[in-house]
Amino acid sequence: MPTLFSPLKLRDVHLRNRIGVSPMCQYSSVDGFANKWHLVHLGSRAVGGAALVMTEATAVTPEGRISPQDLGLWKDTQIEILAQIFRFIEAQGAVPAMQLAHAGRKASTSPPWEGGDAVSETNGGWRPIYAPTAEPFKKDDIVPRELDHAGIQYVVRAFAQSAQRALASGAKMIEIHAAHGYLLHEFLSPLSNKRTDEYGGAFDNRTRALREVVQAIRRIWPESLPVAVRISATDWVEGGWDADQSVALVHQLKPLGVDLIDCSSGGAVPNAKIPLGPGYQVPFAERIRREAQVPTAAVGMITTPEQANDLIRARRADVIFMAREFLREPYWPLNAAADLGIPMKAPVQYGRAFVAR
Ligand SMILES: Cc1cc2nc3c(=O)[nH]c(=O)nc-3n(C[C@H](O)[C@H](O)[C@H](O)COP(=O)(O)O)c2cc1C
Repeated sequence: MPTLFSPLKLRDVHLRNRIGVSPMCQYSSVDGFANKWHLVHLGSRAVGGAALVMTEATAVTPEGRISPQDLGLWKDTQIEILAQIFRFIEAQGAVPAMQLAHAGRKASTSPPWEGGDAVSETNGGWRPIYAPTAEPFKKDDIVPRELDHAGIQYVVRAFAQSAQRALASGAKMIEIHAAHGYLLHEFLSPLSNKRTDEYGGAFDNRTRALREVVQAIRRIWPESLPVAVRISATDWVEGGWDADQSVALVHQLKPLGVDLIDCSSGGAVPNAKIPLGPGYQVPFAERIRREAQVPTAAVGMITTPEQANDLIRARRADVIFMAREFLREPYWPLNAAADLGIPMKAPVQYGRAFVAR
């Protein structure tokens, strides 16, 4: 029976345990560049014992940023500092991963601590922003421009080019962000995709943009390294994207070379009624894993070692991703191992703090 501290192999990548740092926007970049904040933020969680340390949503084009302060990977000069960070993460025994993203109609907004509203061009924002359909996320938001075919192909190429740069920087896994109401989720959900061409309407049309991104990335990404996709398994809205469609999507993605499905939810439209609670998204990870036979990550309000360990032991998910709990406690895996009585090596510099309790 696997435990939270059993290793896991995804293609040729070895995870030392089942704990991953979920992607978390830091809104701390200038012109998309990583900096010392990212080194300390990501590096300290690698020191803390996570198996997988994932960057925040990293924009594949400048106009695909959520905010002017987003991390980006749309030019080669952005590689070097990431390479330094990833070398540090690997030196701690963790696997560096990158989440690649395009914000779609949620682009050009301010960081949450500045309100998260549209940023004007005079304050570093940009127009136009792009989406499958020219409808804003909510009333008074920026009205996006509908992507034409050339625009969609441009985005698909941008994902592949950013993946190429991620590879050059030493990332060992790519996660394609197709959740939370950003561009690729906007294509999936009938609530945000009202197109009548081959990228809208029928299920196969709505999944086309994501499938093209996966195929383009798989053409350049080594066979030996895994690709993950984060989905919003449901919009939590009648008539929206739902768990049945998620299972059908994963059946399409698996043969294209997707190795892990990261099961989040929500974000397509405002005012969805989301039944928040401990592990509230786990049933999606469990169902997709069982029905599509693809490894899954469970995420969302997983905070205690017992809760996480029980999920892995019951095979409800293959990996646990945590976000906010890792902000509270970067050394969560080391402490969890001690709590569960499972031996785990701390960095030698910290060894005296993590002797068996
Ligand atoms: C500060 C912060 C930033 C986040 N940024 C991202 C992101 O860049 N990409 C993403 O897919 N999810 C993002 N999320 C969502 C988290 O990855 C995670 O799915 C969510 O917080 C639920 O997990 P938790 O209950 O462990 O925090 C963010 C969450 C937080 C708290």
